[in-house]
Amino acid sequence: AENGISTPPMGWNTWNRYGCQINEQLIKSSADMIVSQGYRDAGYTYLNLDDCWQSHERNSDGNIVIDSVAFPNGLRVLADYVHSRGLKFGIYSSAGRQTCAGRMASSGYEIQDAFAYAIMGVDYLKYDNCNYDEGVSAKTRYEAMARAINATGRNMFFSVCNWGTENTWEWASNYGHKYGHSFRTHDDIYNDWKSIVEILNVHATVVSRSGKGRWADPDMLEVGNGKLTVDESRTHFSIWAAMKSPLILGNNLTSMPRELFNIVTNKNIIQVNQDALGLPAKRILHIPHDKDIWAGELTNHSMVLVAINYKDQKQSISIDVNKYGYSGLDIVAHDLWGNVTIALEKKRYINNVIMNPHGVFMVKLTKGTIDHHFSDSLKSHS
Ligand code: GLA
Repeated sequence: AENGISTPPMGWNTWNRYGCQINEQLIKSSADMIVSQGYRDAGYTYLNLDDCWQSHERNSDGNIVIDSVAFPNGLRVLADYVHSRGLKFGIYSSAGRQTCAGRMASSGYEIQDAFAYAIMGVDYLKYDNCNYDEGVSAKTRYEAMARAINATGRNMFFSVCNWGTENTWEWASNYGHKYGHSFRTHDDIYNDWKSIVEILNVHATVVSRSGKGRWADPDMLEVGNGKLTVDESRTHFSIWAAMKSPLILGNNLTSMPRELFNIVTNKNIIQVNQDALGLPAKRILHIPHDKDIWAGELTNHSMVLVAINYKDQKQSISIDVNKYGYSGLDIVAHDLWGNVTIALEKKRYINNVIMNPHGVFMVKLTKGTIDHHFSDSLKSHS
């Protein structure tokens, strides 16, 4: 994740776990833990404050007043602290009068706020969609902030959080960087399996328009927040990675169970997410309440397949890789979670892999060739 633009951004954000209960100490200790626990080395380089760093006001100069109880020393020192740990610093505002939690937001003050963020040392802005004046289009509101960021001359990742409203996908595919670097596709994720399934259903319809510097954003991760099973967590992480989604953690860093830490830092899966081609996996097969298969192209003519078990029971899956457009005489299939090579029958069949309830099977195919035409036609039939 060099800059979040050639590959999806990776980081950690306060919202999913802490909501408005944030303060200087939490941010500093989180920065320390992102480093000491190995998240940074795994690729998670952004530390992002979400809503509630602001008070409800601006001062007489028109600047947003920071919540002085939570952040008595301001944000500049915090940004410096985060940078000194080798991390990048992210912040949050809304393209309206107030943020979603009712704090002061940026509408009408885009240039002033963008410069304040730049001076603070902000590297990432998540820009929400609450409390705006009716009649002003999202496009106008987001473009104003995109231009303001540009005018600062500072590199900032611009995360457009307009929940998939008003043709985000048209902007993203037609204008790319002009409006933002990632685009939320629907409203907020919840900490349960049902929410993940719903998000995938929406996301599947737009993800093919995602790509470098204009990533489709299915919202931040819920791994570690106490509700998802280990299998569900693995599925959530696998499919987010394969879709080339931003990988923004939202867990409590002080109490992350080892087996969940191992999920979100798994090298094989992160490598798929950070693959240099930046092409999202697409849903090729969808049988509601039963299973999915997603396929995506990776560098060096390789391919990733992700199978999801929606059933509450185990199910076994067999895959003819030729059917997904992958062929060749020497194909190697690498089970990315098991970290083992799987023998293909007749050079094309993966036979009887058992998937746990709500579990996943993720395999990388190499040494063959991708028949684009074939996989595209499969897609349009599903
Ligand atoms: C919206 C966003 C969330 C979060 C909250 C903060 O709901 O979609 O991701 O930023 O606002 O209030």
